[in-house]
Amino acid sequence: FNIVVLISGNGSNLQAIIDAIENKTLEGVSISAVISNKSEAFGLKRAEKHNIATRVFSLQKYLKDDASRNRNDYGIELAKIIREYNPKLIVLAGWMIILPASFLVEFEKNQPIIDVINLHPALPGQFAGAHAIERAYESFQKGEIDHTGLMVHKVIEEIDAGQVILTANVDIKKEDTLSDLEERMHSVEHTTLVNAIKLLSTQQ
Ligand code: GRF
Repeated sequence: FNIVVLISGNGSNLQAIIDAIENKTLEGVSISAVISNKSEAFGLKRAEKHNIATRVFSLQKYLKDDASRNRNDYGIELAKIIREYNPKLIVLAGWMIILPASFLVEFEKNQPIIDVINLHPALPGQFAGAHAIERAYESFQKGEIDHTGLMVHKVIEEIDAGQVILTANVDIKKEDTLSDLEERMHSVEHTTLVNAIKLLSTQQ
């Protein structure tokens, strides 16, 4: 059950998948490639350390190189790169580009349909989009929520809105700083993302 992981930054969730494969929590799962839109993403170094193929495909550079190109063209090109690895599952782990419909169609229309899943650090229906942890923290300070959470969901055109595969609550304590909450969130993410991949790999 080979997967391709898309990242844009630190890659601590990618690291959690790598570790779970190494310590046999994720059996029968392999990472065929790690793709980043940022050449400086630290997650690329994490992959290289484990001899996992890495690719950089920058949206900015792609558009700058030819003004006639648009985000849909990027989506189709990105899908082509991913197809080279023939994955069973595509995992967005800290991937910061909204994927155009042209990308999703590539994996929905062709057989076998390949799931694209995303990890979002908020509960279903809450804080869709960027800076979700910070927005939850502020909402807690205003007394609007008493906890937050995260979800692993199928990627559809609407942002952070597809069918939920796994979700988990994350406590917020009144003495928490934002980084306390971020740290707690990331540790729950690592476990939940691995469990979601495990679930999907056993369903196939
Ligand atoms: C995670 O909080 C993830 O949910 C969000 O971006 C962060 C990525 O963290 N999409 P990392 O790059 O996996 O450390």
